[in-house]
This record gives sequence, structure tokens and C-alpha cells, in this order.
Amino acid sequence: MYYSDELVAQVRQSSDIVDVVGSYISLTKKGANYVGICPFHNDHSPSFSVSRSKQIYKCFACGEAGNVITFVMKYENITFVEAVKLLADRAGIKLPEVSVSAEEKRKSDKKLRLLEVNKEAATFFYRCLRSPHGERGMKYFKDRGLSDETINKFGLGFAGVNGREVVEVLRKKGFSDEEIRDSGIASVSEKNGLSSPFWNRVMYPIMDANHRVIGFGGRVLGDAKPKYLNSPETDIFDKRRNLYGFVFARNSRAGNLILCEGYMDVIAMHQAGFSQAVASLGTAFTQEQANLLSRYTKKVFLAYDSDGPGVKAALRAIDILKSADISGRVIDMRPAKDPDEFIKAYGSEAFQKRIDEAENSFYFLIRTIEGDYNQSDPEQRTQFYKAIAVKLCENFPEPLERENYLQAICERYGINTENMRNLVTEYASAKLAVPVYQKPKQTSQTKATQEDSGKIAESMLLTWLTDEPEMLPKIKKYISVQDFTDEIYRKVAERVFSDIENDCLDPPAVIDSFEEEEKNLVANIFQAKMPEITSEDERKRAFSDIIIRVKENSYNFFSENIGNDMSKMMDSIKLKKELESLKQKGVSLE
Ligand code: CTP
Ligand code: MN
Repeated sequence: MYYSDELVAQVRQSSDIVDVVGSYISLTKKGANYVGICPFHNDHSPSFSVSRSKQIYKCFACGEAGNVITFVMKYENITFVEAVKLLADRAGIKLPEVSVSAEEKRKSDKKLRLLEVNKEAATFFYRCLRSPHGERGMKYFKDRGLSDETINKFGLGFAGVNGREVVEVLRKKGFSDEEIRDSGIASVSEKNGLSSPFWNRVMYPIMDANHRVIGFGGRVLGDAKPKYLNSPETDIFDKRRNLYGFVFARNSRAGNLILCEGYMDVIAMHQAGFSQAVASLGTAFTQEQANLLSRYTKKVFLAYDSDGPGVKAALRAIDILKSADISGRVIDMRPAKDPDEFIKAYGSEAFQKRIDEAENSFYFLIRTIEGDYNQSDPEQRTQFYKAIAVKLCENFPEPLERENYLQAICERYGINTENMRNLVTEYASAKLAVPVYQKPKQTSQTKATQEDSGKIAESMLLTWLTDEPEMLPKIKKYISVQDFTDEIYRKVAERVFSDIENDCLDPPAVIDSFEEEEKNLVANIFQAKMPEITSEDERKRAFSDIIIRVKENSYNFFSENIGNDMSKMMDSIKLKKELESLKQKGVSLE
């Protein structure tokens, strides 16, 4: 059920955010904003800030942010449509009975058909595994220690001897070639016509939370490459929003969730009794997935591979979980490589023990960066201590919590707490002076944090622009929408650039144009705190730093995704020149 954008806008404009929020919690005026105790986390000091001019709220402690509609949704725990109704009632606006448009009906019919295609394909693969054709697949699963029960529970299958079989089966069931193609099961090639890339592989159907098959992963039987083929994203398969195994894990009574990397890891854990295990879908863990988890539990264990890439991925996941207000704990898999191997080698009791002993993610982080410094070199040890101070500041804005961690870490590493406190104060006050936009030191920088710093610059530029829309022409001299590498930020930039040009920028409307899971991030852009700028000089420097960081990030991103494309290569060279000239000549605020 949907209301038109105009109607939603009317309801929003008739519901002043200060009045509405003020009817739920007590607000006091402070400067340009109203502040109060945040209703969305266990707040002690008034961290919750509401802006009447922007019609946006944000909690500076827990990061929760949005417009008047998202506030009511979250506070009352109701859907978007229900919140619009409630606010309309309150404002005395009469809502029409809504009907679904023809276009929407067509879309939802199409989705139902694609789900049917997937269901039939899954049934075919399932039967094939249990037929003589599938013997090799069955042997493969058995050799990997899977029981019949597990194989059935996960609906595992075998894709057959060629890519045309499944297409034939689906055609016979009455699906059109277009439907078969749009489901991602098959694609058209000159050589084979419509045929499936899935053949001679064991098949892992991927289910959504309602047991519907939305895609597949297919694994080779041996060591050939690529090891896994996954269905492409389709109208029904959104890799950012689903998790392998979640359909079972959501009903687990463990009271926690275990996040891992592989399909096989999930299956092995479920078989060993850990039915709370989930994995991302052949892609990196996303914020949307973290938000999904956080609706079920705030207790998440990471069971990532113990090798270098696994540790890196775990650190990324920890940050993402943190934004969903989850402090993950890391399960030590060593000496095994992954949970599947661990359970096979040591059994489920030993695994449970590892869960009980899982390491606090901050200790894990510090232990990981410890390895970057040679501890017997005093100079490097000092650098290590500084890095700890930085991490303490970044991870714990709340002084009490920071102090607790500071003491614990100092005890662990035999560091004098007084010295560490000084380092923290030094860093924190330096940070207040310029720093959020000061470029982090290049030295021990990993690629991940470079990327992060690029994205931070993207979001700061957007915050600045929405605070001062008149900056747009100055920004556009250097930055275009395409320079934003983060998908969401790019969408925000596109919308905000054009809204400012049409003189109709309305932050709450921009927020509502995004998906539920993205609204928080978008609202955060509008209500972020820019570092205090006290002089014109500082303003110039900040502008220049941000522009260059966005441009540099854009260049890095672009040059990594060139492949063999000659024209992209030329574009990249041009971008590089532009960037170098920017760095030399500087950026002008005129
Ligand atoms: N993956 C992928 N494509 C690849 C390799 C991996 O999509 N070529 C994804 C799959 O979702 C896989 C996950 O990354 O499950 C983790 O990779 P890996 O640890 O290599 O896979 P496992 O699930 O452990 O597979 P196996 O134990 O069968 O080797
Ligand atoms: Mn594995």
C-alpha cells in the first residue's frame, strides 16, 4: 500500500518535528536546536538534537537520525504507512483509500514469477542431486561430512551435466525465455543460445527470511576456478539485504548470531548445532545486513577466516556492526582456517568454548594493529601507543567508556595509564582544532582506511553543501556527481545538486526518497556537526582539503576499476592530471 509523494510531503509539512518529537520526549531549546534525552538508546546526557529549520533529528551519541516520519516509526515501532496515517490524523488531514497502480501491480506480478522460476529451478537441482546424474555431487557433500538431514534442510542440489537442461525444464513449466533470463538462472550467448552458467556444480539455494529461493550459489566439485558462481542481482535477489542461513538463524534460540564468510561454514555450523550462523552472499558484509541483524540481537560473534584477508574482512565487519550499534566479538579460529575446518578438526564442544572465549572487538583491533609495529624498537612502540590513543578516541566518544578501555588496554600491554591519558588528550584536542578534515598520516595506512577517509570527505562535502547551499557553484567547479564513489552519497549528491539548482532543497523529502535502511545514513549527512571553523583561512584550508580528498578518492576508485578499457584508461589519465594540478595550484574558494 502506498501514498503518493505529494501526500506524504503534505503530511510531513503539516507535522512540525519539534512539536511531534516534543509530544513524546521533553525538549529544551539550545542555540538553533532543541535537545533532549535520546529515546533510542540508554542515554544519560541530552545527546538528542532536533532542528526546526531542517526538520531533522539526530542523536550524537547513538547516531540515530531521520525526519518526523522515521521518528514516529521508530518510537511507535510501526511501518511507514502507519506512521503517515498517525501523523495525518494528528494534523487533521484526510487520507484517501489507496489503490495499487498498474505499474506497481506489474512489478509485483513479475517478482512473483521470478520466485516461481527459482523455485522450479531449485526443485530440479534438488532432484538431480538425488538422481544417478547427481551421484558425484552427492559424494562431494558426503565427503565433506554433510548428513542427509543437513543436505535436505538446506535444499542442496546438483546442476546437471550441461547448462541447457535447466532451461528446458523451465520452458516446459511454462516460463518465457525472458523470465528465465531475468531470474538470473540463464543468459543468452551466441554459441549456446539461452543456457545456464550453472552446470557440473553443487548448488546452494539462497533463501530469504520467508523460505523463498531468491538466488543460487554453485560450487565446483574440485579445485577449478572460479570456485563459486553466484546468481546476479535481480528484481528479487538483493545481495546487500539478505544473508545466507538467516531463514533458520532467525528462529534459533541461541540469543546471539554468528556471522561468517562462507556458505559451507554456515552449513557446517548448523549441522554442529549452531543454528544461529549466517553469512553474506559472496560479497562483503553490508550496513543493510548489519541493520537486519541488529533487529534480532545486539550479540553478534564473528567467525571469519583466520588468514590475512579474513582478519581484514573482520575489521571491516566490526566497523559496520558498530554503526548498527552492535559490538561484535571475534571467535579465534586458529589453528583452523575457518569454522567448517575447526568443527571438523575439534568438534562442536571446542567450538562452543571458542564462542565463550570470543574476544571483544576492540581488543581484537588493537591486537591486529600490534603486529604492524616492531615492539622491540622504542620508536615503533611509541607509534603503537599513539595508534592506540587514536583508536580509543575514535571508538569511544563517551569518556567513561573510553577510560575503562584505556585502563584495560594499558594493563594488557603494560603501558603507564597516565601517559596514555596524555596521548589521548593530545589527540582529542588536536582533533578539535582542525583535524577531521586533516589528512590522516600516510604511513601505516591501509587501503580500507583510505577508502573510509574518502567516504568521510564525501559525506562532509555534502553536509557542508546542505548547510550552505550557496556553495554549490564553487563545489561544482571541481566536483561532479560522478566523483562520489559511495552509491548512497552519489544518489544524495545527485538529488541535492539538482534540488539546490531548482531552489527546492528540503532535507526531510530527500530522506524519504531513500529506502528504509538508508534513511539513517542520509539523515546523518544533513545533521552532522561540521568542525568549528573560526577564521577565513581555516575555511579555505578545510574546503581545499575536502575537495582534494574527494577528488583523490574518486581517482583511486576509478583507476582501480578500469580493467582493459582503453577509453577509461584515458579518462583516468585526465583525472590524474586534474588532481595533480589541483594539488599544485590549490583549490579556490572564490
Ligand atoms: N565466494 C564467491 N566466489 C568465489 C569464492 C568465494 O562468491 N570465487 C564467496 C562464497 O559465498 C563463499 C565465500 O565467499 O562461501 C567464502 O569463500 P571461501 O572461504 O573460499 O568458501 P567456503 O564457503 O569456505 O567454501 P569451501 O569450504 O567449499 O571451499
Ligand atoms: Mn571453507
